[in-house]
Amino acid sequence: MSIQELNSTFIKKYGESGEAARVFYAPGRVNLIGEHLDYNGGYVFPAALDFGTTLIVRPRTDGKVQFASTNFPYEASIDFSDIGAAKTGEWVDYPVGVMVELAKKGHPVSGGYDLLFHGEIPNGSGLSSSASIEVVTGFAFLTLLGGDTDTVEIALLSQRAENQYVGVNSGIMDQFAVANGKRDQAILLMCDTLEYSLVPFVTGSYKLVIGNTNKKRGLVDSKYNERRSQCEEALAILKQEIPSLSYLAEVKPEQFELLQDRIADETVRRRARHVVEENQRVLDSVDVLKNNDLKQFGLYMNDSHVSLRDLYEVSCEELDVMVEEAQRIPGTLGSRMTGAGFGGCTVSLVHEDDVQRFITEVGEAYKNRTGLTGEFYVCGIGNGVEELKGVK
Ligand code: GLA
Repeated sequence: MSIQELNSTFIKKYGESGEAARVFYAPGRVNLIGEHLDYNGGYVFPAALDFGTTLIVRPRTDGKVQFASTNFPYEASIDFSDIGAAKTGEWVDYPVGVMVELAKKGHPVSGGYDLLFHGEIPNGSGLSSSASIEVVTGFAFLTLLGGDTDTVEIALLSQRAENQYVGVNSGIMDQFAVANGKRDQAILLMCDTLEYSLVPFVTGSYKLVIGNTNKKRGLVDSKYNERRSQCEEALAILKQEIPSLSYLAEVKPEQFELLQDRIADETVRRRARHVVEENQRVLDSVDVLKNNDLKQFGLYMNDSHVSLRDLYEVSCEELDVMVEEAQRIPGTLGSRMTGAGFGGCTVSLVHEDDVQRFITEVGEAYKNRTGLTGEFYVCGIGNGVEELKGVK
């Protein structure tokens, strides 16, 4: 939908008023490698997508905040003083959670607003549709209310909204990538310190292809929080041996080999091994990428998938089938699940001459083997959150 079309939908819904509407945008994200490391204080390597969530917002004077979306039938009209009073279990909990955090920072959405969201990111697909809604809301209101629009702060505020209001204990990766992405660059982020660098993602004749399994999952009811507590358990045990340890990802692979037996529970030990090895894999992947060794980068993607499947156990049959079929295509350098797992999307690096064949053959095999219809997007890396100026 173009901005003009979105604007007409806005006017149809809310009518004309003397106030000017403004338009904001935040992308989705794909994580290239480094899964389930953010809440373990490790390195992640995500990138902002070139599609996301657009928000049109216009002030009103009666103190009501009105929420509508082109993606969901659910709408809400909430008096600004009641923002955050009751969770709905609906999509509005994401922007409302952000507004609760904004109020805590001294920026209540008093006065009132009409809001229309339009998301291009399939929900529940592991491409961070929720972080995109959170970050666009935070950025829009800090801009409108005259607050500091520091994008690292906005990422942290959005993460707090998700952790505290929505109730998912997610890490910082998604909000950070959505807020700080840059065209054609991936973000090497150290999740403990939030130090980051932009790494040109130059893939020449190779394309990033996202495969959506269309197996939906919600983080609220997934095993996400369980994985977090298993990592905390492993950390508590290893801390007895290395008292200075603050995060599991600080453990080096050599240290882990020496200490792994201290973790008596075999499942918890496997979770910890994934974290330690995946963290090293991120650093190795960025190194080979800097040397333009895309082939090795692809092999690390494959290894990451195996680790998520066998050690961390956050893959599922649909993701495994799609990855397996993707890896069969000669032009595929690497393929893995991306995001939290339990459904959602895969990401593959595919030679441009083979992309069409990839989409046809992986799509057919996936349908035959799972009964589900997958979807594929050849995607570019885009910018982080911004105001779209000059559009009406
Ligand atoms: C979800 C979470 C992120 C991260 C990934 C797994 O996307 O929101 O914080 O933990 O899962 O890497």
